[in-house]
Amino acid sequence: PLSAMEQEDAIRQELGSLHGIPLFKSFIEGWPQVKAFQARPDDLLISTYPKSGTTWLSEIMDMIYHDGDVEKCRRDAIYNRVPFLEMKVPKGPSGVEQLENTPSPRLVKTHLPVQLLPTSFWEKDCKIIYMARNPKDVVISYYYFHHMAKIHPDPGTKAEFLENFMAGKVAYGSWYDHVRGWWEKKQENMLYLFYEDMKKDPRREVQKILQFLGKDLAEGTVERILHHTSFQEMKKNPAANYETMLPTMMDHSVSPFLRKGISGDWKNHFTVAQNERFDQHYQEHMAGSDLHFQME
Ligand code: A3P
Repeated sequence: PLSAMEQEDAIRQELGSLHGIPLFKSFIEGWPQVKAFQARPDDLLISTYPKSGTTWLSEIMDMIYHDGDVEKCRRDAIYNRVPFLEMKVPKGPSGVEQLENTPSPRLVKTHLPVQLLPTSFWEKDCKIIYMARNPKDVVISYYYFHHMAKIHPDPGTKAEFLENFMAGKVAYGSWYDHVRGWWEKKQENMLYLFYEDMKKDPRREVQKILQFLGKDLAEGTVERILHHTSFQEMKKNPAANYETMLPTMMDHSVSPFLRKGISGDWKNHFTVAQNERFDQHYQEHMAGSDLHFQME
């Protein structure tokens, strides 16, 4: 039998390159099926750079789709209720296979950069909700996620990971390209949200989503959605907190999936020098864009 460390090595994947975007080799193997994916006109796509609040938004959307019925939203784990389009691991069904077996209207999760989104989403004019989060909190969240989610390469030290993140040498590539790419593609059928806004005023953001969907919910229902999707509630909900994943895939004892759920945690991790360097890099890479982030 393999030692614990060898087992971990067996699962951790080096990144390959998908059209220049660093990505898990097993995902790249499944790419032909993803590229050919047939979206349906009533699919709703949830798109994010990793660690930007994907799971939070997914739970909100499933609650909206089920009129705030908490029991219905416990029917399965979030990663099955909202299948992950480009996911492919050696064992178990791929994201595409899961989606093919999901009745409409489907919620679809992706982290793909905009240029790699399968064309059928555009052809079918599907609604898209993009959620972005400030990069300082993303990089810290991503760093802890690398430790607990064993598919990722070893992140190295925090300082090393910060360098790799800034250079776009992490799964899904450059955060800058991702948020800017989707921002520039913004159109009528796309809602662009921010994690920081959702933290500050979740009611207002949920109302934005409802308006985007052309859906009206009773005040009590909205209230229930807000309560059920709060950090505290999701953290203890096995259908939302990823604790049902195989422990070989995710080790919550290293760092829980729902780790802190706040804005500005980066302040507890960045040194003054790292912060100055990051700010400089951020200015350079966001220059000329009207996309702005709240860092806390
Ligand atoms: P932290 O690591 O900063 O705590 P994703 O779902 O895209 O992987 O993002 C995960 C991040 O979203 C984690 O951030 C997690 O704690 C946070 N998150 C998940 N559910 C949340 C909620 N209901 N409220 C606030 N943050 C939440």
